[in-house]
Amino acid sequence: MRIVLMGPPASGKGTQAKFLVQRYGVPQISTGDMLRAALAAGTPLGLEAQKFMSAGKLVPDAVVIGLVEERLQLEDAKKGFILDGFPRTVPQADALDAALATLKSPLEHVVQIDVPRELLMERATLRRTDVRTGHIYHLKYSPPPPDAVLEHREDDREDKVKKRLDVYEEMTAALLPHYQKKGLLRRIDGTGDPADVTRRIVAALGG
Ligand code: AP5
Repeated sequence: MRIVLMGPPASGKGTQAKFLVQRYGVPQISTGDMLRAALAAGTPLGLEAQKFMSAGKLVPDAVVIGLVEERLQLEDAKKGFILDGFPRTVPQADALDAALATLKSPLEHVVQIDVPRELLMERATLRRTDVRTGHIYHLKYSPPPPDAVLEHREDDREDKVKKRLDVYEEMTAALLPHYQKKGLLRRIDGTGDPADVTRRIVAALGG
């Protein structure tokens, strides 16, 4: 299964990717997680990316394209993948098409998770991640256990989330026609219980 999960910030891509990894047995490839890991490790790439991420801006195309091209070469991605948060621009989508053409493994589905903007703001600002397990919680909808070690992402502060939503509308929404033309786009209602969202996605993917 070779899937791209698209959707605005905090629409539930990471949450859904974790369920889909279990179901389809393919790895999640999240550029946001890879960039945060690079930052935590203090690599030059991570420190460079942080300037953009903490401002709510996109990291330059060349940086994320390089990361994904390298990741797709690894053995576990040969059986498929769930790309989460990549591509986000038309040049990234073109680079992905080219990389997958070389690997003779074209994309099968692009899932767009739709959630209204006012809900996205609430989802992002109340999101917390357990730094030990990577589990994503929400203070209202999916409260963490008392022993969780919680992190509040710097880019989940209200002003940063607004900026990320604007960037999404300017840059990433342009990808929808790109994938619609190719007949790959499946749009999913991302509201309601996460398990219901998973069921909608699985149905759209053909089970
Ligand atoms: P990234 O980490 O990819 O952030 P994002 O796309 O903004 O997505 P999020 O991680 O914010 O949200 P999500 O959709 O995964 O939602 P989640 O499941 O956590 O990127 C961060 C930054 O890195 C970017 O701003 C950019 O700077 C850089 N970057 C990354 N990729 C890049 C690229 N390709 N090009 C350039 N720059 C790049 O859910 C959110 C919350 O809602 C959680 O609390 C969750 O518990 C809750 N929730 C989920 N589903 C539901 C539900 N159904 N009901 C109620 N609550 C729910």
